[in-house]
Amino acid sequence: MELGLVLRFLVTGIFISETWTHGRPGPMSSECLENFLRITLSVEYFEDKYLSFSAVDQSGIAWELDEALASQCGYTVTYSSWNNIEFRASALSCHSRLEKDTFTVTIQVKASHTPDMKNASIHLKSASCHYGPWSLRELLCETNYMEVSVRRDVPQTVKDLIQEEPEDWTLAFPEAKSGEASIWQIVFHQPEEKRALLVSDAWSAGYGLNTTDTRILLRVPYNTAQTQLVKAQGITFSAVRSSTFYKEQWMILMVNTAVACPVDGVDYTNKMIIWTVPKYIQALCTGATSFKDILVEAGVNLHKLSVEEMASRKYVLSNDFDVITMKVPIGAEGGYYKTSVNSGQHGTRYCINLFLEHQWEDNKWGLTKHTIIKEIETPFELVELIVTNNSNLSARIMNVTVGTFLLDVELVNLTVEGATVTVPEAVQHGYQTYEIKYANQSKAYVIHVSFDAQSIKKEYLRDDIRTYTLNVTLEFIIHPTSETFSVPIVTLSAVKDAVLPSARGFCDENSLHLHITHGNVDQNWMPFISGRHLTPGAAEKYNYSLSDNGTHLAISVPFLSSLLDYEEIHTSGVLASLHLTLKDGVTLANKNFSVSCRFSPSELIQCFPNGTVVITAVKLVRLADLDTSLLVLSDRNCKPSLVTEKTATFKFNVNTCGTRRKFNSTSITYENEVIYFRTGNDSPVYKLKFVCLYTIKQTVDVRYETKNNPSSSIKPGFGSLDLSLKLFKDESYSDLYQELEYPVVKYLKETLYFEVELLQPADPRLELNLEDCWATNSKSQDSLPQWPILINGCGNSKDSHRTVFHKVNYSTRVKFPQHLKRFEVTMFTFIEGTTQLQKQLYFHCSVVICSTMPQPSDFLCQRSCNPGKHRLDRSTEPQPHGQASSGAVLIRKENMTGRGTAEMWINRQHLN
Ligand SMILES: *[C@@H]1O[C@H](CO)[C@@H](O)[C@H](O)[C@H]1NC(C)=O
Ligand SMILES: *[C@@H]1O[C@H](CO)[C@@H](O)[C@H](O)[C@H]1NC(C)=O
Ligand SMILES: *[C@@H]1O[C@H](CO)[C@@H](O)[C@H](O)[C@H]1NC(C)=O
Ligand SMILES: *[C@@H]1O[C@H](CO)[C@@H](O)[C@H](O)[C@H]1NC(C)=O
Ligand SMILES: *[C@@H]1O[C@H](CO)[C@@H](O)[C@H](O)[C@H]1NC(C)=O
Ligand SMILES: *[C@@H]1O[C@H](CO)[C@@H](O)[C@H](O)[C@H]1NC(C)=O
Ligand SMILES: *[C@@H]1O[C@H](CO)[C@@H](O)[C@H](O)[C@H]1NC(C)=O
Ligand SMILES: *[C@@H]1O[C@H](CO)[C@@H](O)[C@H](O)[C@H]1NC(C)=O
Repeated sequence: MELGLVLRFLVTGIFISETWTHGRPGPMSSECLENFLRITLSVEYFEDKYLSFSAVDQSGIAWELDEALASQCGYTVTYSSWNNIEFRASALSCHSRLEKDTFTVTIQVKASHTPDMKNASIHLKSASCHYGPWSLRELLCETNYMEVSVRRDVPQTVKDLIQEEPEDWTLAFPEAKSGEASIWQIVFHQPEEKRALLVSDAWSAGYGLNTTDTRILLRVPYNTAQTQLVKAQGITFSAVRSSTFYKEQWMILMVNTAVACPVDGVDYTNKMIIWTVPKYIQALCTGATSFKDILVEAGVNLHKLSVEEMASRKYVLSNDFDVITMKVPIGAEGGYYKTSVNSGQHGTRYCINLFLEHQWEDNKWGLTKHTIIKEIETPFELVELIVTNNSNLSARIMNVTVGTFLLDVELVNLTVEGATVTVPEAVQHGYQTYEIKYANQSKAYVIHVSFDAQSIKKEYLRDDIRTYTLNVTLEFIIHPTSETFSVPIVTLSAVKDAVLPSARGFCDENSLHLHITHGNVDQNWMPFISGRHLTPGAAEKYNYSLSDNGTHLAISVPFLSSLLDYEEIHTSGVLASLHLTLKDGVTLANKNFSVSCRFSPSELIQCFPNGTVVITAVKLVRLADLDTSLLVLSDRNCKPSLVTEKTATFKFNVNTCGTRRKFNSTSITYENEVIYFRTGNDSPVYKLKFVCLYTIKQTVDVRYETKNNPSSSIKPGFGSLDLSLKLFKDESYSDLYQELEYPVVKYLKETLYFEVELLQPADPRLELNLEDCWATNSKSQDSLPQWPILINGCGNSKDSHRTVFHKVNYSTRVKFPQHLKRFEVTMFTFIEGTTQLQKQLYFHCSVVICSTMPQPSDFLCQRSCNPGKHRLDRSTEPQPHGQASSGAVLIRKENMTGRGTAEMWINRQHLN
């Protein structure tokens, strides 16, 4: 006989706790359960193996079972619970030996590590059970087949009549003779037709037919062509109505071999399994009119339970007029839970293997025994997993417990950051997993991983708190079905170990600096100033410098920058602030830093010798709406030449833009202011006064002014008021004595041509006037004796050689003639008393700087003897006075040799 599929079971990795394996005998154990033999295989022996089952017949031939043969021949293989495999054989199974009321079944189990069953180990088990007495009709509803056996007997009256000869049989029914079996044919009653099959054809169609000494047997797998679904009391039955013809002695007899088994009838309400079985099924009771219940019994796993046992397990068996109902609380003793997966979700189902035995007597059939085995599996129930975070902050270990699971679940893989690793491999990634078993047949898994593991995400939360996130997906397998499911775990632990960045701020003359030391939370924080992200790319545009060496971030911003805030302008300085925010782009966690410094206001102003003033006004924080491009000078037509968001720079000459000028005895002061008017408002909201001070002396006092808002004034910008006294070679004043030509040698009758000039500022509105000029023997202006040349701008009247003034005209060298004065002096002037010759002379002039235009605040100079307008009205106001000196001039009485000159020179040096 050709056998199809080998019935194989892969039993993998089932965990068998000690309580279950303890004291268990051998790999296979058997149990007689009325008309069944049960052989239980210990998983401990058959773990991780492929199994095949064979039934061994009386001649010792092993018939390997597949599912079809098993259901045709009365065998069932099932998982009785998650750690046992159960083999059941009907008393009337094909290969059993039946002697009197004892049946013997022998099975052979092959176990191999590979599906092709190579190198299989072979285990034989034989067992005999007593079963009896047999009822007239026995109906069996197994999980994979229906079975009916009916006593074959010939009524006594009929026996007496039988006299025919065997030969007549052969002639009449050759098919019956040729068939080995005593069954001849079977007729199925279907609603539309009756179908007769010979034994061999019925066998081929999957039916199990045979006779024993006393009984006719029909076994029908569910879902054969001749099964019908019929309803009884609302419950669906799978039913086959058939008549079996067999020969008995010399007669052909027919027996009704109808069988019906319920295929539903199980309800789940209020945590209760309710199994309802109608008592009298039409298909089984055709022709009967009176019924009598003989026995209703029920049990679990083919063990009958007493009334007391049922009560203690809270089972309820009720036998009503036409139905038997069995109620079992979900979770009750006798069943077990198994893990199940539904749409990827993990849950459980409760399984219980109930059975019911109903015996009744009716007036047609006599005693019928109906045994129904019902494997019940409750609907999927989602299990809420509990994730407990017991992380040990001091040991810096994340300790997460996930549970609870049934024992049929095993953790196999962990997926971290998209990478899946097995449990042993996970250890190398820092993930240790442990199983915790609980007394109630459940367990949990514990994951240990260091806070510092690379895959633990660290994030700054607030204050000094960082969160550590464990994000792992656990993958489980369920035994023995090999279904899988996964459980994502995300747990957060808050740890007070955040170190925020800290900063040191300082300034130098030109810039503000922040040096930030990174903490442990800000590696990806970005620097912002007024909402503007500082990037190396923008550094050039905004003229800041930014560098980060991994541990430190250094930022420098120049004093004049749109990135700064100008808090106030004061004579003491301009208060500029750098407000920097380090910010996490995602969490927006941030920390602010600032540095403020006072810069000298002179940073804002430059006064050039050529009279150009450059002033930069800065926008103050409190004038947020100020538009720097609308800043103006006193003369509102003077607009900034360069504007940024925070600054406006003006460049103009002291001669323009409404610049006011003031004099005193040592300096000229130019004043102006940067002003801002709000539209429609005539009084300025911003006024920055500034001053350019050109002084004659190099040492200058610093003057501070304070004004109330909105006026700000700053320390003046300084320039110098430069004067010179130069000696020329002739009256044309085109050739002057160069520095290297000093000391200049002159003879007594020779003339000296002097020119006094105001070198700067180049303000055409200024005029230089001479006051006194005099000669001394030494460089010092104050040394004695002194020879007066000019007094109050006029020649020395005592001097017989009058000083001659020369007019100064415009030329390429002379842009402002009013800035120059020229005069000539003869050397006779310096003969003291007799003919005493002064060997070396220095010339000095004091000058006064005047205004060429009368201004109300101006004063008027006296200009008496030198060319120019004569102003006789004397001002009492101070006026800038300065002094200029010439280099040395050597006086010679007569022409001498060069050598002599040198000697004299040396002698004079010695004398001094
Ligand atoms: C019927 O049973 C007899 C005895 O047990 C056996 O020898 C025979 O093979 C069986 N026939 C079938 C078709 O199973
Ligand atoms: C992890 O937590 C469990 C449960 O609280 C505890 O039994 C175990 O000792 C902890 N492990 C560590 C390393 O802290
Ligand atoms: C575990 O991982 C292995 C290899 O990465 C994979 O073959 C297997 O299917 C995974 N098992 C489960 C239950 O996810
Ligand atoms: C956890 O990791 C997965 C895969 O890497 C990712 O898609 C998911 O967003 C992460 N969850 C959290 C809360 O970080
Ligand atoms: C970064 O710069 C700071 C100071 O500017 C210095 O102290 C530190 O050592 C530098 N770190 C590295 C890694 O170069
Ligand atoms: C005056 O001097 C400054 C500085 O040297 C220069 O920038 C400016 O252009 C000069 N102005 C004039 C009008 O020459
Ligand atoms: C002249 O004015 C300047 C600036 O205002 C001041 O510093 C200086 O002291 C004044 N000199 C005299 C002699 O008043
Ligand atoms: C002095 O001598 C030089 C040449 O030695 C001559 O050129 C010059 O005119 C003389 N001066 C006088 C005043 O004699």
